[in-house]
Amino acid sequence: MFQTIRGTFDVLPATHESGGSRVPGTPAWRHVEAVVRDVMARHAFEEIRTPALEPVELVARGVGATTDIVTKEMFTVERTRETYVLRPEVTAPVMRAYLQHHLGARGGATRLFYLGACFRAERPQKGRFRQFHQFGTELLGTDDARADAEVIANLVAVYAAFGVTGTRLRLNTLGDAADRPAFRDALREHLAPHAADLSETSRQRLASNPLRLLDTKDARERALLADAPRLTDFVGPEAMDHYHALKAYLDALGIAYVEDPTLVRGLDYYTRTVFELESDALGAQSALGAGGRYDGLAEAVGSKAPVPAVGYAAGIERLFLALEAQGVALPEAARPDACLVALGDAAERRALVLARDLRAAGLTVDVALASPGGGRSMKAQMKAAARSGARHAVLLGDDELSRGAAGVRDLDAGTQTDVPLDALAGALTRDSGNG
Ligand code: HAM
Repeated sequence: MFQTIRGTFDVLPATHESGGSRVPGTPAWRHVEAVVRDVMARHAFEEIRTPALEPVELVARGVGATTDIVTKEMFTVERTRETYVLRPEVTAPVMRAYLQHHLGARGGATRLFYLGACFRAERPQKGRFRQFHQFGTELLGTDDARADAEVIANLVAVYAAFGVTGTRLRLNTLGDAADRPAFRDALREHLAPHAADLSETSRQRLASNPLRLLDTKDARERALLADAPRLTDFVGPEAMDHYHALKAYLDALGIAYVEDPTLVRGLDYYTRTVFELESDALGAQSALGAGGRYDGLAEAVGSKAPVPAVGYAAGIERLFLALEAQGVALPEAARPDACLVALGDAAERRALVLARDLRAAGLTVDVALASPGGGRSMKAQMKAAARSGARHAVLLGDDELSRGAAGVRDLDAGTQTDVPLDALAGALTRDSGNG
């Protein structure tokens, strides 16, 4: 028997358990997607859909050659001459699409959102998968600090729309790319005498990507960093003004945040603003969503002109965890209005036609079908009708047909009445309550 690949899951019509996690059913996913789309529409973000496969160079240059994503977590696909990658995130693909289709040509800012699968070969655990699903926004072509406030306000609005509370927004500025070398040198100088106390990974990071050292979880390394040069002290005046402006906008919006100078993010394209929305209800994988400004990405992936931009992405699996922790009920499969049960050849033919007509009238209609070796007895079909979850069984036999009627059994109440065929749609709708 084949099984889903480690770190992936099927979404079934009903909620189920898979590898220790609860996987909500398709109605819950559709509900979540519909709420996200609704918030996006009100915030005037338009949907973009990019391919699952992208050129590996786009991700390597966009996300950064020394990041965990690129060095360890890419699912690559080899073709004869090229290597593709299953997208680990959507920001670099959206920037590719923006440049490829000249979306900025009409001037002004471009507001895009997306919903879709991403792939990272991480070690699977609660809230962390190898195929996971993100929604997110990208606001491209503007360096206005109000754009940063707009995307943060959007992230907050999505979570508010679901009624998720108890979240914390962490905020930091990384300054501009030009501010980095001086900080990098100062940090290297500070840590050089302590190189022996650093982990192998941190020693490598010190050489290749020193910013990443700042979010180390290692207690000894944290102690070494306590009196290290602070990134904030190297942020230039323009980036600092931008950061102060953003904070004033968030204050005006009443969006609470915690400034965290150790927040650096695991993707290399960030400049200036970075943020993360977290929840303690999630356990180790506490990030509901995260993002920031990436003014250098366009040029990193080949644009001649800079495209300042800001955005975020949030994991749908993490959203489900937050909803579960808060006991928020999500929709399960809707019940069919009726399941048709037919006895005899003529009735079986008539039942298919009746199903078509009732569906055309807007009803949800199932047909009791025979299982292999199960026969077509009344009893077998009534069992099928019960399994379908339908509110009503509609019974059609030669006798009923000769009277131009059908037996309608309310499967919850167990009562049965005769209903003329031409009054069936009305009767089934009238009785369909909302349970
Ligand atoms: P990221 O922090 O790598 O940022 O991912 C954003 C969110 O995706 C995380 O906060 C988390 O909720 C979810 N996520 C990431 N990896 C996994 C995983 N393996 N399993 C489940 N959920 C996961 C980005 O992807 C950037 N593109 C965000 C961005 C957009 N920055 C600017 N614009």
